Amino acid sequence: MPLADCKIIQLPKISDPRGNLTFVEGGNHIPFDIKRFYYLYDVPGGSERGAHAHRGLHQFIVAMSGSFDVVLNDGKQAKRFHLARSYYGLYVCPMIWRALDNFSSGAVCAVLASSVYMESDYIRDYPQFLEEALT
Ligand code: TYD
Repeated sequence: MPLADCKIIQLPKISDPRGNLTFVEGGNHIPFDIKRFYYLYDVPGGSERGAHAHRGLHQFIVAMSGSFDVVLNDGKQAKRFHLARSYYGLYVCPMIWRALDNFSSGAVCAVLASSVYMESDYIRDYPQFLEEALT
Protein backbone atom coordinates (compact mmCIF):
# COMPACT_ATOMS: atom_id res chain seq x y z
CA MET A 1 0.00 0.00 0.00
CA PRO A 2 1.25 3.53 -0.65
CA LEU A 3 2.99 5.59 1.98
CA ALA A 4 0.28 8.25 1.56
CA ASP A 5 -2.14 5.91 3.37
CA CYS A 6 0.00 6.16 6.53
CA LYS A 7 -0.70 9.22 8.58
CA ILE A 8 -0.59 10.95 11.93
CA ILE A 9 -3.99 10.70 13.63
CA GLN A 10 -4.95 13.18 16.34
CA LEU A 11 -6.82 11.55 19.23
CA PRO A 12 -9.42 13.02 21.60
CA LYS A 13 -7.84 14.71 24.59
CA ILE A 14 -9.96 15.36 27.67
CA SER A 15 -7.98 18.08 29.43
CA ASP A 16 -8.49 18.11 33.18
CA PRO A 17 -6.60 19.77 36.03
CA ARG A 18 -6.52 16.28 37.62
CA GLY A 19 -4.66 14.92 34.59
CA ASN A 20 -5.45 14.51 30.90
CA LEU A 21 -7.22 11.54 29.32
CA THR A 22 -6.97 10.21 25.77
CA PHE A 23 -8.79 7.25 24.26
CA VAL A 24 -8.74 5.22 21.05
CA GLU A 25 -11.67 3.26 19.60
CA GLY A 26 -10.99 0.65 16.93
CA GLY A 27 -12.93 1.38 13.75
CA ASN A 28 -13.64 4.92 14.93
CA HIS A 29 -10.40 6.84 15.56
CA ILE A 30 -8.28 4.27 13.76
CA PRO A 31 -9.30 2.35 10.63
CA PHE A 32 -9.17 -1.20 12.05
CA ASP A 33 -10.42 -3.31 14.94
CA ILE A 34 -7.90 -3.77 17.72
CA LYS A 35 -6.86 -7.38 18.41
CA ARG A 36 -3.53 -6.81 20.21
CA PHE A 37 -1.72 -4.23 22.30
CA TYR A 38 2.03 -4.39 22.89
CA TYR A 39 4.68 -1.93 23.98
CA LEU A 40 8.40 -1.28 23.83
CA TYR A 41 10.11 0.13 26.91
CA ASP A 42 13.56 0.25 28.54
CA VAL A 43 14.95 0.87 25.05
CA PRO A 44 18.70 1.62 25.33
CA GLY A 45 19.86 4.87 23.69
CA GLY A 46 20.96 4.31 20.08
CA SER A 47 18.80 1.18 19.62
CA GLU A 48 16.83 0.55 16.46
CA ARG A 49 13.66 -1.55 16.50
CA GLY A 50 11.44 -2.76 13.72
CA ALA A 51 13.24 -3.09 10.37
CA HIS A 52 10.55 -5.28 8.88
CA ALA A 53 7.20 -5.07 7.11
CA HIS A 54 3.87 -6.82 7.64
CA ARG A 55 1.88 -8.39 4.83
CA GLY A 56 -1.58 -7.82 6.30
CA LEU A 57 -1.23 -6.15 9.70
CA HIS A 58 -2.51 -2.65 10.41
CA GLN A 59 -0.86 -0.83 13.33
CA PHE A 60 -1.20 2.39 15.25
CA ILE A 61 1.91 3.60 17.10
CA VAL A 62 1.81 6.05 20.01
CA ALA A 63 4.61 7.56 22.12
CA MET A 64 2.98 7.04 25.52
CA SER A 65 5.99 8.65 27.18
CA GLY A 66 9.15 10.26 25.81
CA SER A 67 9.75 10.34 22.07
CA PHE A 68 11.14 8.39 19.11
CA ASP A 69 11.12 8.43 15.31
CA VAL A 70 9.39 6.04 12.93
CA VAL A 71 10.75 5.78 9.38
CA LEU A 72 8.23 4.36 6.91
CA ASN A 73 9.11 3.14 3.43
CA ASP A 74 6.77 1.70 0.78
CA GLY A 75 9.61 0.61 -1.50
CA LYS A 76 9.41 3.82 -3.53
CA GLN A 77 9.80 6.55 -0.95
CA ALA A 78 10.56 6.93 2.76
CA LYS A 79 9.29 9.37 5.35
CA ARG A 80 10.41 10.04 8.93
CA PHE A 81 7.79 10.80 11.62
CA HIS A 82 8.65 12.11 15.09
CA LEU A 83 6.26 10.87 17.80
CA ALA A 84 6.40 12.81 21.06
CA ARG A 85 2.88 13.14 22.54
CA SER A 86 0.32 10.65 23.84
CA TYR A 87 -2.63 12.39 22.11
CA TYR A 88 -1.62 11.49 18.56
CA GLY A 89 -0.22 8.45 16.84
CA LEU A 90 0.92 7.08 13.51
CA TYR A 91 -1.27 4.74 11.47
CA VAL A 92 0.82 2.22 9.52
CA CYS A 93 -0.97 0.28 6.79
CA PRO A 94 0.14 -3.17 5.52
CA MET A 95 3.19 -3.62 3.26
CA ILE A 96 5.25 -0.77 4.70
CA TRP A 97 8.84 -1.27 5.83
CA ARG A 98 9.30 0.45 9.21
CA ALA A 99 12.20 1.23 11.51
CA LEU A 100 12.04 2.94 14.90
CA ASP A 101 15.02 4.89 16.24
CA ASN A 102 16.03 8.03 18.12
CA PHE A 103 14.39 6.79 21.35
CA SER A 104 14.59 9.27 24.22
CA SER A 105 15.39 7.92 27.66
CA GLY A 106 12.25 6.56 29.31
CA ALA A 107 10.38 6.34 25.99
CA VAL A 108 7.40 3.96 25.87
CA CYS A 109 6.16 2.95 22.41
CA ALA A 110 2.63 1.56 22.45
CA VAL A 111 1.33 -0.35 19.42
CA LEU A 112 -2.29 -1.23 18.67
CA ALA A 113 -2.50 -3.99 16.08
CA SER A 114 -5.25 -5.50 13.94
CA SER A 115 -4.23 -9.11 14.53
CA VAL A 116 -2.62 -11.35 17.10
CA TYR A 117 1.10 -12.11 16.65
CA MET A 118 1.85 -14.19 13.55
CA GLU A 119 5.44 -14.60 12.43
CA SER A 120 4.19 -15.60 8.95
CA ASP A 121 2.84 -12.05 8.50
CA TYR A 122 6.36 -10.57 8.83
CA ILE A 123 8.75 -9.76 5.98
CA ARG A 124 12.14 -9.41 7.67
CA ASP A 125 14.30 -9.37 4.55
CA TYR A 126 14.46 -6.01 2.70
CA PRO A 127 15.06 -7.41 -0.84
CA GLN A 128 12.12 -9.77 -0.26
CA PHE A 129 10.00 -6.78 0.83
CA LEU A 130 10.90 -4.88 -2.35
CA GLU A 131 9.99 -7.90 -4.47
CA GLU A 132 6.57 -8.24 -2.82
CA ALA A 133 5.88 -4.49 -2.62
CA LEU A 134 6.81 -3.57 -6.16
CA THR A 135 5.30 -6.47 -8.09
P1 TYD B 1 9.59 -7.75 16.65
O1 TYD B 1 8.22 -7.48 16.13
O2 TYD B 1 10.63 -8.23 15.68
O3 TYD B 1 10.18 -6.47 17.41
P2 TYD B 1 10.38 -4.95 16.89
O4 TYD B 1 9.78 -4.84 15.55
O5 TYD B 1 9.71 -4.12 17.91
O6 TYD B 1 11.85 -4.68 16.88
O7 TYD B 1 9.46 -8.78 17.86
C1 TYD B 1 10.56 -9.11 18.68
C2 TYD B 1 10.33 -10.51 19.23
O8 TYD B 1 9.15 -10.53 20.04
C3 TYD B 1 10.14 -11.57 18.16
O9 TYD B 1 10.83 -12.73 18.58
C4 TYD B 1 8.67 -11.85 18.15
C5 TYD B 1 8.23 -11.51 19.56
N1 TYD B 1 6.86 -10.95 19.61
C6 TYD B 1 5.83 -11.72 20.10
O10 TYD B 1 6.02 -12.90 20.51
N2 TYD B 1 4.57 -11.19 20.16
C7 TYD B 1 4.32 -9.92 19.73
O11 TYD B 1 3.15 -9.45 19.80
C8 TYD B 1 5.39 -9.14 19.21
C9 TYD B 1 5.16 -7.73 18.70
C10 TYD B 1 6.65 -9.70 19.16
